[in-house]
Amino acid sequence: MPELFRDTTVLITGASRGIGAAFARLLAARGARLLLVARHAADLEAVAAAARQLGARADILPCDLADPAIPARLAGQLEARGLVVDHLINNAGVGPQGRFADLPVERHLPVIDVNIRAVTELTGRLLPGMIARRRGGVLNVASTAAWQGLMWLPVYSASKAFVVTWSEAVWVSLRGSGVRCCCVSPGPVDTPFFDANDLTARPPAWLMQSAETVAERALRAYARDDCHLLPFLPFRLAAWSTRLVPRALAARFGARYAAPPR
Ligand SMILES: NC(=O)c1ccc[n+]([C@@H]2O[C@H](COP(=O)([O-])OP(=O)(O)OC[C@H]3O[C@@H](n4cnc5c(N)ncnc54)[C@H](OP(=O)(O)O)[C@@H]3O)[C@@H](O)[C@H]2O)c1
Repeated sequence: MPELFRDTTVLITGASRGIGAAFARLLAARGARLLLVARHAADLEAVAAAARQLGARADILPCDLADPAIPARLAGQLEARGLVVDHLINNAGVGPQGRFADLPVERHLPVIDVNIRAVTELTGRLLPGMIARRRGGVLNVASTAAWQGLMWLPVYSASKAFVVTWSEAVWVSLRGSGVRCCCVSPGPVDTPFFDANDLTARPPAWLMQSAETVAERALRAYARDDCHLLPFLPFRLAAWSTRLVPRALAARFGARYAAPPR
């Protein structure tokens, strides 16, 4: 696995903090060249500087993936600079808290743009080159939210269900191509995600994994060419259990997750 990334170029979205920054640290230590994407340039630069201290080349590409024009522009920039992406990590994600009808639809649409549209378009623009070169691949970060509709994270949970199902379809289409597609569905992870999305409910610390643990397990699953990984046993069991009960029951249980404190 260490050699899988050595001297390759990895584009990581959502690399300015949390799980994305953990991917950057781990991949820098494994000899990858990094292309780091997120909105906030100063935060990206701090992650890039830490990667350079580990001996990696790291460039930042600040942009807003909620803007539908950005993925094509990003792919054009890469081509113009002669940058070939070997591995794409679709990690950026957002999810405002609130019952569907309680939030203005303008709060929901960026979730689709960042979590679905940008993921699909970036992959669609970069994957054909990987297939032609017969190496590299795509690592998608979904969530255990994908396993049932979550009342308090309605579009987020649906967007992650898209990522899981779509990743499976891409994974199977790539058999024998030399190219990977792996999806990781973490349970709660101790990152700024909760504050960034104004989530008033936060799981207890003992129920959360660290960003480093999730990123490390995800990279290992990707290196094994796994289709999908649920990296945390309690949430793996919870996710599997949703397949055994009626969807309505799973949704009722899911209504407890991310519920605002009374
Ligand atoms: N934390 C959890 O409990 C948890 C659990 C399961 C799955 N996940 C998933 O894991 C992934 C990473 O989450 P995290 O926990 O590391 O969250 P985080 O700390 O909030 O980081 C999210 C990253 O995405 C970037 N981002 C957000 N909106 C963006 C936009 N419009 N354009 C470009 N970049 C954008 C953020 O940077 P900027 O603000 O600088 O743009 C940041 O780098 C997400 O897909 C999330 O859904 C998280």
